[in-house]
Parts: sequence; structure tokens; C-alpha cells
Amino acid sequence: MNVLTPLPELSAAPEDGYIYIEDDFLEASTCEALIQFGNHRKENFRPAKVGKGGLKKLKKSIRNDKIFWIDDWSPSPFIDVQKKLTLLQQALRREMLPIKRFESHLTFYKPGGFYVRHKDRHQLSPHRLMTAVIYLTPWKPENSGELIVYRNPEDPIAIQPIQGRLALFESHLEHEVVKTHGTRWSLTTWFRDDLSFVLGT
Ligand code: OGA
Ligand code: NI
Repeated sequence: MNVLTPLPELSAAPEDGYIYIEDDFLEASTCEALIQFGNHRKENFRPAKVGKGGLKKLKKSIRNDKIFWIDDWSPSPFIDVQKKLTLLQQALRREMLPIKRFESHLTFYKPGGFYVRHKDRHQLSPHRLMTAVIYLTPWKPENSGELIVYRNPEDPIAIQPIQGRLALFESHLEHEVVKTHGTRWSLTTWFRDDLSFVLGT
């Protein structure tokens, strides 16, 4: 994504939801640097939880990925990513989305990892407007681990988690991560319409 290749217009998206895929959003070298960063901080990764605030629960039957919230964007591999996500945020604002900020975590699934069908926009805190997932691991079809988006529940869309690819979709859309047979690293971002700086809400 750069300023010269604008996002397809939101107004031109099907009424039931916006999905946009961009390959080579991140260069392979940046993806590898992010994985390396993650690998060096494995002990700081926490099992991801489900729900919100005081209702947050560890539920391995729903998701079994491990996450690392990014609160410092200054380490070198993050600088490029933050720039790109800021451009993406600008592009989304030009589409009249009232986005105030974004929050991101690195995500790691071991072989066998999955995340059952869910929405990222919580009923009690509907502040996540758009979800952006950037895939970091080189992908082979036998790895599976596709993202399935149920924009039309009768005709779900499968997105392969190819290294460098960006998948952007409205956070109210139901989606799932099918079981991955390989290690699966990604960087997940939510563009939000609130200003609270409490991470992980
Ligand atoms: C999530 C999620 C999708 C993916 O983290 O909420 O649904 O493809 N991720 O990793
Ligand atoms: Ni999700």
C-alpha cells in the first residue's frame, strides 16, 4: 500500500461488508525480522483470551494462539510496519471511517493452532471498526491455516496466509482461522473509533 494506490472505495464494497487483500504489503525481509523479534521474546507471549474486560477468559477450545501486544514501535522491524499502518489508517479515514487509533499484536500459532468462528467487534465495546491481519510466515498449501471470512455465510471466502499479505475486513464480519499444520506468525491490527489507551480491550 502506498499513497498512489488508494484503497478500493468502501462505498463500492458489497453492502454486507468490506474485504480487501493486498499482497506484498510487507517485504519478506520485514516479515522475517518480525518473526525473529517474536522468537527472541517467546517468554513474553501470552495465551490469547476471549471476551472483554473482566469477562476475559482463557478458552483453549476457542483459540490457542499466543500474542504479544506492541506498545513500543521503535524497534527496527516495527518502524516500517507502523508507517504502512499509518498510511492505511489515513486511507480508511479518507473513506470517512471515524478511526482514532490502531492497536496491534504479534500472533503465533503452533501447528494444530486455530481460532473458531468469531467477530472482533465486541457487543459491549463496539470500537473495533476494521481488522487488518498481515501474514509473516512463508506459506505452503499443506500448511492450511487459512482465514475464512463469512461475509456471505453461504459462500465463505478463504484467504491464504501468504507471507507479506494484508487481509483487511470489517470487524463485525464473522471469521475463523482453520487449523494450521505449520507454524503461523501474523501481525493483527484493529482500527478503532475510541481514544482509550488501555491495550487489549
Ligand atoms: C484475530 C483473527 C485472523 C488471522 O486475531 O482475531 O481472527 O487470520 N485473526 O490470523
Ligand atoms: Ni478475529
